[in-house]
Amino acid sequence: MLDLLITNATLPDGRRNMSLAVRGERIVEVSPGLQAPAHETLNAGGMLLSSPFVDAHFHMDATLSYGLPRVNQSGTLLEGIALWGELKPMLTQDALVERALGYCDWAVAKGLLAIRTHVDVCDPRLLAVDALLEVKRRVAPYLDLQLVAFPQDGVLRGTQGPEQHLNNLIRALDKGVDVVGGIPHFERTMADGALSVRTLCELAAARGLRVDMHCDESDDPHSRHVETLAQETQRLGLHGRVTGSHLTSMHSMDNYYVSKLIPLMAEAQLHVVANPLINITLQGRHDSYPKRRGMTRVPELMAAGLTVAFGHDCVMDPWYSLGSGDMLEVAHMGLHIGQMTSQAAMRQCFDAVTCNPARILGLEGYGLEAGCYADMVLLQAQDPVEAVRLRANRLKVWRRGQCVAEQPRPLTTLHLPGRPPHTDWLQHRAPGGSDSGPPPGPQ
Ligand code: FE2
Repeated sequence: MLDLLITNATLPDGRRNMSLAVRGERIVEVSPGLQAPAHETLNAGGMLLSSPFVDAHFHMDATLSYGLPRVNQSGTLLEGIALWGELKPMLTQDALVERALGYCDWAVAKGLLAIRTHVDVCDPRLLAVDALLEVKRRVAPYLDLQLVAFPQDGVLRGTQGPEQHLNNLIRALDKGVDVVGGIPHFERTMADGALSVRTLCELAAARGLRVDMHCDESDDPHSRHVETLAQETQRLGLHGRVTGSHLTSMHSMDNYYVSKLIPLMAEAQLHVVANPLINITLQGRHDSYPKRRGMTRVPELMAAGLTVAFGHDCVMDPWYSLGSGDMLEVAHMGLHIGQMTSQAAMRQCFDAVTCNPARILGLEGYGLEAGCYADMVLLQAQDPVEAVRLRANRLKVWRRGQCVAEQPRPLTTLHLPGRPPHTDWLQHRAPGGSDSGPPPGPQ
């Protein structure tokens, strides 16, 4: 006897009328038209059943703090960092935990069940580290939280000497933080930035940890720390374990230099996370017109075989006043900034918030195959492109086979003479291409 049988689902790879069988925490079978006894059966009505969304880049210690102690007037990255510096001394562990748990509620409701969050380690109290380790423990039944030790103020820029922040970072790793972070473009000189990359990669190699650095988050075409990051990855044998986050300077680099850089990144099997909502709002701030978009070269990096994800980065914090944990909104913005408008490219944007970040985080048991965890989201859309177009409603979210969030299918009633009584924004279609009216909903 199965615990759950979902029938008549469309999968992200395009297969239709698929059944998915769950026993306990795992998917046990995925096949077309399967019928079998189950404690619960759900007809997906042709809607898209996906693995959950994954956010490869977030700042949960700052989230939902918008307006504390004031708002970012200029809207720049640097004022955001200064504002976060003003807020840090006022933080309490209870408030941090409460805001983070509130955000995780939003995330689950949006089908976002795994998040890699950076946590600032420059405060010697490591208050945010302790808070997010507590949050990680509390949300573990329903959300995978991976922590990155992030020296927001620069690992070599401690006011009490270059060892101060590095020691804090090492203490954070000792407490159980998972990944080594960095911010080479924010060190005082290019040379210090390169030194920080080497030091932090060596630390990660010695401890067998992954690396995820904020890297070259500026419009400066000469900010080239990603080159050092790729080279150190090769030197230390960290292939496939290192992520360059943001890489916005690549938007402004000379094309010849990039033609040499991307193959080096591919050799190192570097992963890349672009953060479209934040890149489009923070970059280009020193430009008049034309005003650069600032997002890294996503289509070119994907074409070179690198794993590229879109991250949310910020929600209602010193850097960004909007957001709701909706990774389809992130994919939607990434699609537009990257001009990724072909059918294949739009599907890649869906992958950039699902399977690609899952690979970057190294999630075990992720996917819609027999043996994977029964972690799934049912979307009110018929394929990944429609899901991105509509930022589709999450009708049902499962974690380890248990429903953790659900929403009745919304129905908008029209009062228009001679027109249908309802609309749902789906593209109505039928085999053979004829228009046969709206598809059935989940029952
Ligand atoms: Fe970030």
